[in-house]
Amino acid sequence: MIHPVNRKGTHSVKHEEAGKKFGSSDLLPLWVADMEFAAPLCVQGALQKRAAHPIYGYTIYPERYFDAIAGWMQRQHEWQIEREWIVPAYGVVPSLNFAIEAYTQPGDAVMIQSPIYPPFFSSIERRGRKILDNTLRYESGCYRIDFDDFEAKAKEARLFLFCSPHNPTGRAWHKEEIEKLIEIALRHDLLIVSDEIHADIIYSGMHHVLGSFEAIADRCVILNAPSKSFNVAGLNSSYAIIPDAMLRGKYISEQNRSGITNGNPFGIEALMAAYEGGAAWLEALKQRLWENIAYVKSFVQSHSFPIKAVVPEATFLVWLDCRAMGMTQEALVHFFVHEAKLGLNDGVSFGEAGRGFMRLNVATSREVLEEAMQRLLDAWKERC
Ligand SMILES: Cc1ncc(COP(=O)(O)O)c(C=O)c1O
Repeated sequence: MIHPVNRKGTHSVKHEEAGKKFGSSDLLPLWVADMEFAAPLCVQGALQKRAAHPIYGYTIYPERYFDAIAGWMQRQHEWQIEREWIVPAYGVVPSLNFAIEAYTQPGDAVMIQSPIYPPFFSSIERRGRKILDNTLRYESGCYRIDFDDFEAKAKEARLFLFCSPHNPTGRAWHKEEIEKLIEIALRHDLLIVSDEIHADIIYSGMHHVLGSFEAIADRCVILNAPSKSFNVAGLNSSYAIIPDAMLRGKYISEQNRSGITNGNPFGIEALMAAYEGGAAWLEALKQRLWENIAYVKSFVQSHSFPIKAVVPEATFLVWLDCRAMGMTQEALVHFFVHEAKLGLNDGVSFGEAGRGFMRLNVATSREVLEEAMQRLLDAWKERC
């Protein structure tokens, strides 16, 4: 069901940009967060059917599109939503930007939790807002929220950009953690935009959609997409779910102001097909990803590497703690790229809290992953 596919020649960022990004082209690219697996057959079939009709003109979002999202939220995440809460969007990162613009003014403070997906920083900075970083605490191999610091910063922040599940740490926030955040947010009238793009890939327990907590439902914006779950990120099809009419109106005006109105015919077809028929494929995918995560974890443990894998509860990203290698970040990146010949994300691109870390994308074939781990081991032995 889950088939690795060679992407060479498809203009993929991960492969075609690797040479430029790393200054070396003979490496294994394990960076950009998409997968080396073919999208599910239901998605391929829907896209082929749509492509067979030779007109690709301006396209509306049909009722079926809204039903597909509502149905997915209900079945997958036990969240019942109204059709009018859904706002089709062009991408989660553009939506983060529209939300910042809609709900804050230049100079306002926006809170994030680093280490964090880089656009969380850039979206705030580029819009002239101030970053308040409620840095996550890394304790005994696990990332936790510093609630005292969150409360202190919530007094000043107008908006909190939540990442749930969290990239790059792979945390799938537990119900009690989210409840605590909500309690503090309400006390300080803090609005929350929750990026839940990784919500479908969770390995145990369930994802708790922020909007499903009644207390915060009218003070939050949920952003999601089928991009990560079904490997369709290039189709630029995402959505916001905004229960509160006033917040929704502000968001929509901001998005309209940017000129984004119509949908992409392929993105719409892919979303409907994935959400209507992709659940079994997603289960198989999670199984495969979990095996890959377990493989990486056991490899680094059994070869007495000075590297620890932070085992994710969600996402196909493994955050590697390389601090015991005793290298500067520059030397660490050089080691991965030029000695191990591996293209991973530099931990510092996720903020200062990522110093000493590298992010590995395990959504690839076992053969590639084995080759990657072997290269890492050989390069390390070479040094010792
Ligand atoms: C947390 C998070 N948000 C957003 C995105 C990208 O979303 P989009 O491609 O819809 O802009 C990613 C991609 O890696 C991500 O990890």
